[in-house]
Amino acid sequence: MNEIRFWLNGKEVHHPYEPTKRLLDVLRDHYSLTGAKEGCGEGECGACSVLIDSLIYPACITPLAHVSNAQVYTIEGIKTLPSYAIIEEAFIEEGAVQCGICTPGMVMATLALLKKTPHPTLEQIKDGISGNLCRCTGYNMIVKAVLRASLKGESPW
Ligand code: FES
Ligand code: FES
Repeated sequence: MNEIRFWLNGKEVHHPYEPTKRLLDVLRDHYSLTGAKEGCGEGECGACSVLIDSLIYPACITPLAHVSNAQVYTIEGIKTLPSYAIIEEAFIEEGAVQCGICTPGMVMATLALLKKTPHPTLEQIKDGISGNLCRCTGYNMIVKAVLRASLKGESPW
């Protein structure tokens, strides 16, 4: 049987050839990586955000074929990185987590932003998280959390 090869949270994976299957379903159903959530299912809310070759993608509209030979990271895979601890701390300190539904996606978007732009302006932060919806915080606290993370020490992004 044909396979699609990719790297999932740093480990090489050979997955059965199901090119049109949604990456979100593969992650949740086959690898028990449930940090990426099903929200809108249409690429609009960011609840399912993952990093593919360091860029943020909505896994709900990303076909498996898209990750062939790519590096895929989910929220579970970045939890051991120093950058995760910095972002987590900043979100807690700014009160940017309430119900938590959007949080994994927000953290992934923050990491993608800070990797590309370690010291973003407020406009760049708003732009960086613009694909991620939050029904609770009103965004101000999230924007402040991203800014706080960007100002913490040496950037390990
Ligand atoms: S569930 Fe994927 S963007 Fe909303
Ligand atoms: S904290 Fe509830 S949706 Fe963002």
